[in-house]
Amino acid sequence: MRTTVGIIGAGPAGLLLARLLHRAGIDSVVLESRDRAYVEHRQRAGILEQGTVDVLRAAGAGERMDREGLRHDGIELRFGRRRHRVDFPGLTGGRSVMVYAQTEVCKDLIALQLKEGGPLLFEAEALAVLGADGDRPRVRFRHQGREDELECVYVAGCDGFWGVSRRAFPAALSRVFERTYPYAWLGILADVAPSHDELVYARHDRGFALLSMRSPSVSRLYLQVPAGTDAQDWTDDEIWAELERRFETGDGWRLKRGPITQKSVTPMRSFVHEPMRHGRLFLAGDAAHIVPPTGAKGLNLAVGDVVTLARALTHEQESGSPELLDAYSATCLRRVWQAERFSYDMTTLLHPAPDATPFDARLQQARLERVASSRAAETDLAEAYTGFPLG
Ligand code: FAD
Ligand code: DHB
Repeated sequence: MRTTVGIIGAGPAGLLLARLLHRAGIDSVVLESRDRAYVEHRQRAGILEQGTVDVLRAAGAGERMDREGLRHDGIELRFGRRRHRVDFPGLTGGRSVMVYAQTEVCKDLIALQLKEGGPLLFEAEALAVLGADGDRPRVRFRHQGREDELECVYVAGCDGFWGVSRRAFPAALSRVFERTYPYAWLGILADVAPSHDELVYARHDRGFALLSMRSPSVSRLYLQVPAGTDAQDWTDDEIWAELERRFETGDGWRLKRGPITQKSVTPMRSFVHEPMRHGRLFLAGDAAHIVPPTGAKGLNLAVGDVVTLARALTHEQESGSPELLDAYSATCLRRVWQAERFSYDMTTLLHPAPDATPFDARLQQARLERVASSRAAETDLAEAYTGFPLG
């Protein structure tokens, strides 16, 4: 099999790249190791930055998002039993975010790709990227029990943190920057209307909690738990009781309970692989970088990468100039590091570490009070949350 751009992975990065290339008249083949149902139901991100919303619309993938997504103009910070609302449009010149789940973005992009785009093979596992530094890179893959090769002009490694693309970089070229955190998130989905109409990020001495949502009738909630926790260690009642404690305010606010339909634990990690390009292989999304989830940057970063890559590939095809492809890694990494900084700041602002001293707790409180009392500090948060400009 042959194509211009071989795309490994049908997460948000791979699917959107295939869509953008299709719109630019560039053919691609997407290889995805899992089946369609798995990709469409894997619970992950929920918040789309303004720029991501604009890109999905421009790619013709925004119709259901505009009907069913929930525009959010702010978030609430909760600490010391107090609440502080951050007003995004007022602080950023009109920007907002959209609550529309990653599962739904993937469903929309898969449906479009199967209807209008090039081949998208499920249960096709990439085994290795070969010849990335030559003229004709190949992806070795296994599909329906048979091994085969996809011959490409370019390969896009969109196969997430655990994929194979990164391994095709020579050790002498790769630099990894990494940090792990001594806590994780226990996430639940519950069939109950959200208890607040905007997201609530709560810092409590017992740990962080986040109230989010998937729709007007489905809540998504997260609790900080020790790294290595098993979701089954927590009963449903224990989860609700702990969420109530951490969200408690002095003004009688109540958390609504409902049946929990899904429970899982997400580890927290910061990770950047530099560079993001080796020869004709380009990494995009989680394959190149991970942020801890606080602040919802992961999916949005993946979108930024593939917009930059699609633009560079289109430019090369139209003008013959590799200039934008040559700049790909540096262009993406500037935005990636801003998101790394913001996600780290949000994480360390809101999560008490297991070995935190009383001094650390006071510092978190002072940082939160700074955001709540200084327009400059609040604007910094609002600008980063609603998103940095795309490359
Ligand atoms: P992935 O979504 O990981 O997709 C990679 C794909 O490649 C997968 O489908 C995988 O099956 C496939 N694959 C892997 N190996 C191979 C192989 N060898 N061959 C073929 N296919 C392969 N981000 C936000 O922006 N906002 C949020 O609110 C947010 N919340 C999050 C909450 C949680 C609990 C978690 C876990 C993450 C959250 N994120 C959030 C992060 C976001 O989900 C990821 O950054 C995003 O999924 C990255 O997309 P991707 O396409 O790069 O990678
Ligand atoms: C969600 C996840 C996040 O990491 C975040 O900061 C906000 C919302 C979510 O899954 O809804």
